[in-house]
Formats: sequence, structure tokens, C-alpha cells
Amino acid sequence: MPPQQRADAHRARCVVTRMLPGTALDRLRERHDVLVWEGELPPSREALVGLVRDAEGLLALLTDRIDPELMDAAPKLRAVSNYAVGFDNIDVAGATARGIAIGNTPDALTDATAELTLALLMARARGIVEGDAFVRSGAWRTWSPTAFLGAGLTGATMAVIGPGRIGTAVADRARGLRMRVLVQGRQDSREHLRAVLAESDVVSLHCPLTPETALLIDGRTLAWMKPGAILINTSRGGLVDLDAVADALDAGRLGGAALDTMDPEPVPLGHRILSTPRVTVTPHIGSGTAAARAAMADAAVDNLLLALDGERMRFPVNTVAGRANASSTPVPPSTSSTDRPI
Ligand code: DGY
Repeated sequence: MPPQQRADAHRARCVVTRMLPGTALDRLRERHDVLVWEGELPPSREALVGLVRDAEGLLALLTDRIDPELMDAAPKLRAVSNYAVGFDNIDVAGATARGIAIGNTPDALTDATAELTLALLMARARGIVEGDAFVRSGAWRTWSPTAFLGAGLTGATMAVIGPGRIGTAVADRARGLRMRVLVQGRQDSREHLRAVLAESDVVSLHCPLTPETALLIDGRTLAWMKPGAILINTSRGGLVDLDAVADALDAGRLGGAALDTMDPEPVPLGHRILSTPRVTVTPHIGSGTAAARAAMADAAVDNLLLALDGERMRFPVNTVAGRANASSTPVPPSTSSTDRPI
């Protein structure tokens, strides 16, 4: 839009549910009236419903549930830009039915998430966190031929479940470590999954959370895994049954688990997974580099600015006929801009 027209343009009311890093929000404020939720914790459900009542644009986080009830409480809402690649917090079909454009932030966090996946793998395979605690506790008496023996990765096999952007970036790095990589894609059968799990020393999850992938790793699929294998989850907690993982670790069938995401989040301090040996946990920080989080903010703001101008988002998740995100080529939500589910 030319600058003169832009100056006269309608200023939409936008809600941003948390302060974002970088300068992206300044670009949103230049064009629209922006209300940022300044709390350290997400707005409560009640607060969120109140915030969106008059909003035309919403920049949401993965901790905000965007469901029909919320959308119905926001009759002017035209666009929701999710500050995440995953969008399982949003009822996309419900949004499409209401003419609300949805966008997400792929690409920006691919390398950061792949790097954390490898960091977790190495930490788990070699007991880095336990070794650190051991040294600090004063229990370290001498060099020992048998203490802290880990699992070697060179020549080991990794299963990448969900070969989308992040899964592919993890596979590339794993090959760089001279690991063999097997892949389970969305089109592959359960029999294929069973064979892949049975052959792999490491299983790394990179598919989005959908009804098809929920609790993909449960007692049954854990039993298919190679004895002593390591499970890594940097995708969504809902893919994994934590109790089944604890059972498999207690029984000595699973070699270890490294979990950046858990269901629920935060996992309660009394949850048994936290007292199960050979478990490494981090607080959902896959995208947690300054550069990735700033790039995500840029992508999320670009999405919102474009949609509020009636244009197609930079990273659209749905297609809204005759309005923002309209496209001659329909964009199916599960494959357009996120990692392919299995
Ligand atoms: C995402 O983007 O989906 C991550 O879980 C958070 O960055």
C-alpha cells in the first residue's frame, strides 16, 4: 500500500498476548492500535475473552486456546497470527468457518529446534546433566573405568518421526554425526512405524500434534522400540504418554528419554517422570535462541499486518474465501506451513 493511503488507513485493534523480543511489535504499533498483555504468565481464559472482545487482530502464543467459544466472543476478529510453528492450540476449521485467517511462524525456528534436539540427544546419551550434578555434589572420588558409561552415537540408527522442516534438519545433523537415519512420514503405515522403531537406537519426534498423532508413543509403541533406545521429544507433549515412558524406563526397556515438551506443561513437580532415572527435561525451549525468537516475532507481525490489509499472510495456515489468506491454490492446514505429521 502506498505511504499516503497507509496514513489514512483504518487502524485496527490488535491484541498481543505477551511481550515479544526484538522490534517487530513497533511495526505493528505504527499501523494499528496494539494492546500487549504485559503479564509474565499467559492471560487467564477470562482475561483473554475480555481482551479479544473488540479485537480485529490477535497475535497469540501456543499457551492461548483459540476455540469456538473464544472466537464467538470476538465478533470483529479477522486474523490470528500464532507465535509458533505448531498451531494445535487453534481450532483451524472453526476459524475458517468464521472467516478468520490463521498464520504461523515456520522456518525461523528450524535450526534452533534441531540444535536443541541434538543437544538433548548428546546430554541423554552421555549423562551430562547427571555428571554435572555428581561433580557438584562432591561425590566424585576418582577417575573410574566403569562410571558414567554412555551410549555411543557413531553408527547408531536414528528414527525421525515426522520428516518436515525440523525433522529434516535433525536428520541432516544426525548424518553429520555419522548416524544412520530412518524416517517415518505421514503416508507411512503403522507396520512401517513398527519396523522403524524396532531398528532405531534413537527415536526423535517431529510431527505436529493432531488427532492422528496424539499419544503416538504409548505402551504399545514403546514395546516396539529397540531395547535400550533413547526417546527424544522436541515437538509437542501430547505425542507421548509420560506414564508409559516412566514404566518403560523403570522396566529397563527404554534406555533414556529427553523431553523438551510434556503434557501438561509445566509438568507438575510431583509427576513421576521427574523422579524416574535416565530422564532429561527442558522447559519447551526448542526455539529458544534470541535470533529465532526475534525472527518468529517478525513472521508473526508480517502475518498480522498482511491479513489486516486483506492480503494473504506470509505463512498462512488456512484459506479464507474472499478475505485475508484467500488464494487460488487452497492451502491444506496440515501441510502448508508446518512440519508434515506422520
Ligand atoms: C513452536 O513454534 O511450535 C514451538 O513449540 C515454540 O516455538
